Amino acid sequence: MTAPNVFQPPTHEGHTTHIGSLDEYRRMHRESIDNPEQFFGKLGRELLSWSKPSTTVKSGGFHDGDIAWFLGGELNVSYNCVDRHAAENPDRVAIIWEADEPGHDERWTYRKLQQEVCRFANVLLKFGVRKGDTVAIYLPMVPEAAVAMLACTRIGAIHSTVFAGFSAEALRDRILDADCRILITADQGKRGGKTVHLKQIADEALAGCPHVRNVIVFQRTGDMAVPFSAPRDVWWHEEVADQRPYCPPVPMNSEDPLFMLYTSGSTGKPKGVLHTQAGYLLGAAATCKYVFDIHPGDVFGCMADVGWITGHSYIVYGPLALGVTTVMFESVPTYPNASRYWVMVDKHRITQFYTAPTAIRALRRLGDEPVAPYKLDSLRVLGSVGEPINPEAWLWYHDVVGRKRCMIVDTYWQTETGSHIITPLPGVTPTKPGSATLPFFGIDVAILDPETGRELEGNDVTGVLAVRQPFPSLTRTVYNNHRRYLDTYMRPYNGYYFTGDGATRDSDGYIWINGRLDDVINVAGHRISTAEVEAALILHPACAEAAVVGVAHDVTGQAIVCFCTLKSHGAGDSLEKALIGQVRTHIGPFATPQRVVIVHDLPKTRSGKIMRRILRKIAGKEVTIKDYDEPESIAAKLGDLSTLAEPGVVKHLLERFA
Ligand code: PRX
Repeated sequence: MTAPNVFQPPTHEGHTTHIGSLDEYRRMHRESIDNPEQFFGKLGRELLSWSKPSTTVKSGGFHDGDIAWFLGGELNVSYNCVDRHAAENPDRVAIIWEADEPGHDERWTYRKLQQEVCRFANVLLKFGVRKGDTVAIYLPMVPEAAVAMLACTRIGAIHSTVFAGFSAEALRDRILDADCRILITADQGKRGGKTVHLKQIADEALAGCPHVRNVIVFQRTGDMAVPFSAPRDVWWHEEVADQRPYCPPVPMNSEDPLFMLYTSGSTGKPKGVLHTQAGYLLGAAATCKYVFDIHPGDVFGCMADVGWITGHSYIVYGPLALGVTTVMFESVPTYPNASRYWVMVDKHRITQFYTAPTAIRALRRLGDEPVAPYKLDSLRVLGSVGEPINPEAWLWYHDVVGRKRCMIVDTYWQTETGSHIITPLPGVTPTKPGSATLPFFGIDVAILDPETGRELEGNDVTGVLAVRQPFPSLTRTVYNNHRRYLDTYMRPYNGYYFTGDGATRDSDGYIWINGRLDDVINVAGHRISTAEVEAALILHPACAEAAVVGVAHDVTGQAIVCFCTLKSHGAGDSLEKALIGQVRTHIGPFATPQRVVIVHDLPKTRSGKIMRRILRKIAGKEVTIKDYDEPESIAAKLGDLSTLAEPGVVKHLLERFA
């Protein structure tokens, strides 16, 4: 019998899913763990085209951080994502671009994509980019972003895409860390009717990057007032016009670097998570095929931004490797109104739709009316990514968007894993709202005791989520900092890849993700480190100390709350606003704190360590000033306060937060 909160995978008339049953999945999963060489060797031959086959499938391990897949093999990622489909189906649509302006779209065939990628690869060569060089990409959601990425892969350059919502300082730091000599950007971006001044921001960043030789500027809006300084700056459209629409793809070794993507950790500056050619592409293609049940002719709609890993794997590399149509959406779900997604699904006959719980929650709040008039009958699979999805949002997605006939895939993964690692599969997995369910092929999940590191066997256990053996799309290093790679992922629990998340395995063996165990806050699916926000705040001349915590938020999952002490007394709204602005300038608008509270003191232990646990509970309103007169209630809610150096600080904080 089926429990009421379990949903059987739906079937669609005339459609057969790639995998037909839970038993078949279990058999395949078992094989992928017991015999990864055979399983992934076969999958690699099926899904990828090689200029030279590999001699070994899997080598290296977590302990030495020398994981390698498909050694001896050679392939080219742009060939796999473009040429082979352009040769077979030149007129098939590769990219549908849905522009910010409602009603504006473009359809790019595989033939056109190949020509544009080749022309742009030739532009890169003209400007001296060679195999192994790093190239920074700071572009809005235009097809040219995919072109720029694919052109890099064509000539073996390593791209570092920086989300166009990052500030000048964040862009500068990333360009410097990766030592990029070329930046690709746009005059301006458009989002929800607003203009983003990308070139202006890029110029500010470049003031601190003396090694950048050239900036290739794509004209998105054509605003003549955009700053442009020749000969450093060149226009994309002028440069490609002179280039031949063919450029031979460079054969790359399986383990050559493909791209890096910066992500936040609990300490220090963002790290350049590095992915390599074959393993990454196989992970992206295999998950696209099985998790979204992609078939020829499908129109895949991932609403993420190419500046994040979701955009890399599920807008560009995964769907294009499979030769289907991918949608690039430049706008926001509420522009010009809350029907934007659904108009688009019907217009382009989208078959798989993939977005973040934040968007689902925001739309759910606006009611069913904006969804009701649309047919949405092309949809088969609805995906969720980036943060835990609460059952209410899951059910709304399932009932109102999916009309109870679509599979919901709550996909758990990370920038580091490159592709999904825990997720339901269409045709296979009975789903439970809020659970990412079962591991993907090759993922050997372990739940560890956080203190002892011992594996918690069996079901009904909660602990640290880890992976027991390497899988193809796992990151191979942190750019220029292998020590940090080992320390962050491989050393915390010897012999395992440490995800940084907590998880529960329930009585049916289903995995539930409980969120980050480190000081990383997840705001609207964006990973933000408290240390980075604190570092931004203390750069303000008035700020002495800062402590940042995440609090629950109805729409964005979590929100940022900052506690700051000042160098000299004085407070007021204007300073709080200035401190909020400080975070926007140093990181970007997506990291805007919900609140900055100026306090006289922070709760510290006698050794000076900030007790964030207390701040988290106060900011989360788990305890309020009303509780203060009842010492028992304070102790029950805040836990042991005996290590506090200055016990009076609790009352002060409660008053300030009231
Ligand atoms: O905490 C987990 C959360 O997002 C983190 C990874 O963030 P990032 O590297 O930016 O990649 C986002 C896109 C995959 C994870 O450590 N996370 C991601 N997906 C889920 C999730 N938490 C719960 N459920 C998910 N489906």
